[in-house]
Amino acid sequence: MTSKQTAAVHGGERSSHNPGVVNTINPSTAFHFSEAANQFYPRYFNTPNQQIIVDKLCELENAEAGIVFSSGMAAISTTLMALLKPGDHAVMLNGLYGGTHSFVCKEFDDAGIQYTFASGDVASLTGAMQDNTRMVFVETPANPLLDVVDLRGLSDAVAGRNALTVVDNTFASPINQNPLDQGFDISIHSGTKYLGGHSDLTFGAVLGHAEPIELIRQKAINYGGCLNGLTCYLIERSLKTLAVRVERQSDNALEVARYLAGQAAVDQVFYPGLETHPDHQLAARQMTGFGGMLSFNLDGAVSYRDFLGALKLITPATSLGGVESTMTMPVFTSHRLMPEQTRQQLGITERLVRFSVGIESANDLIADLEQALARCLAGSEAGAAG
Ligand SMILES: Cc1ncc(COP(=O)(O)O)c(C=O)c1O
Repeated sequence: MTSKQTAAVHGGERSSHNPGVVNTINPSTAFHFSEAANQFYPRYFNTPNQQIIVDKLCELENAEAGIVFSSGMAAISTTLMALLKPGDHAVMLNGLYGGTHSFVCKEFDDAGIQYTFASGDVASLTGAMQDNTRMVFVETPANPLLDVVDLRGLSDAVAGRNALTVVDNTFASPINQNPLDQGFDISIHSGTKYLGGHSDLTFGAVLGHAEPIELIRQKAINYGGCLNGLTCYLIERSLKTLAVRVERQSDNALEVARYLAGQAAVDQVFYPGLETHPDHQLAARQMTGFGGMLSFNLDGAVSYRDFLGALKLITPATSLGGVESTMTMPVFTSHRLMPEQTRQQLGITERLVRFSVGIESANDLIADLEQALARCLAGSEAGAAG
């Protein structure tokens, strides 16, 4: 098996009729007529540039087949609607990305699909299964609290029960976690995050066994969320550096998490790489790196507005997974659409800051955090004195 570092660079390479070392871009939306059943067309998800990134991602995820979409939500929504039918039931992790959570709550009733949200331990997820359960859908590490689901434990427990196991693998990326190797049927990515990695592309990917991927492709042809050749080329270019980016982001995140865990102005740090994280042992078993995402609760004395406003290098911004470090408040962004009560239950409050650690120097990031926390503490002490 090729290493992931090598697959990221060389996976999907086409050498025939191409004198260059870089694959050619084929922007065409019209392809020469043929009588074949599978004619090329961007919305048939089968053009040469789409296939190149599918091949690369299949190598990275050890997948038999794949399909790439115009966004992560296009990938998620098409997968759900392709694999679930009216009368089916799905078990969904309760701590899912807010957009997925909202899709389920808004669309499943209309589609006649039943669902139960369950917490991330294997017993709760399998305990929520019914005779008509056809899918168990999780996310790990989950957005934004970095809870970890036991992929092998769950796939073993669901095996033989006629239900597909699907995971949103966005936070880990294929560099740090390969769910299909842990018995999962389908791995989904918002490529907008780590796969693209430069905060300038929107796409999604679904990787898995050939049979469900073909069902998803048939649905996708009707839904239409496809990519053009030029965007595919940019994705391919980004993927070549995926391993070096994610390895550096993971190293930086561990250093930064250790620093934050020692700060009086920080209440709690959520990072699976910390020995204090409740899922640390599990994460160490099923991941090859702990990833570039972490979150933390600010102490009551520090307001998020003052803290974000005091940062000089780290940019307060939505989204995640880029080479530049960014921070956001999930309560106002990724989980805004989640009902307030559910957010409170999960611990997504106005004190929770989500940190997407980039590839800058860890020392510079820590220096920025240090000066921002010091300014906030000085401000709150002055306020208390005055
Ligand atoms: C874990 C996760 N999954 C899926 C998505 C949706 O991806 P997109 O914004 O590319 O549609 C996001 C977006 O933030 C995400 O964080």
